[in-house]
Amino acid sequence: MSWGNSATHWGLVSRLLHWFMAIAIIFMFGLGLTMVNMRLSPMKLEMFMLHKSVGILLLVIVTLRIIWRILNPAPRPPRSFSKLLVRTVFAGQLFMYILMLCIPISGWLINSAANFPLHKPV
Ligand code: HEM
Repeated sequence: MSWGNSATHWGLVSRLLHWFMAIAIIFMFGLGLTMVNMRLSPMKLEMFMLHKSVGILLLVIVTLRIIWRILNPAPRPPRSFSKLLVRTVFAGQLFMYILMLCIPISGWLINSAANFPLHKPV
């Protein structure tokens, strides 16, 4: 398997980025929903710190992923796909990229508006 995408297959970099982000996003939803419902404790603060760190990491990775996607065109869609289906798939993928950017940015905004430091206070 090659690093980059070919006309028929996704390359290793795209696959790794895809699965790493999929697992990390599911983890972040679980962590986010758990931490907001906890009673105030050192553990809760640790979980917020972990959530913010992984969230910012995801923001960096999605930026790299978008750059990689622009530099590495996606494999050609199967010939059996109609034009409408190809456009719908593209719109769905675009929507997912927008969400992957907007969710961590909105978390960052909420965090900044609440005037909590992004880093662990020393
Ligand atoms: C892919 C990235 C992210 C996902 C999937 C995610 C998901 C979530 C979820 C599900 C919650 C719980 C919402 C609720 O029930 O009220 C939450 C809360 C929160 N997230 Fe994130 N988050 C992400 C990135 C970030 C980032 C980058 C930051 C900050 C730098 C952040 C800061 C926060 C804060 C401060 C809360 C608590 C909000 C409150 O107290 O109501 N998140 N997040």
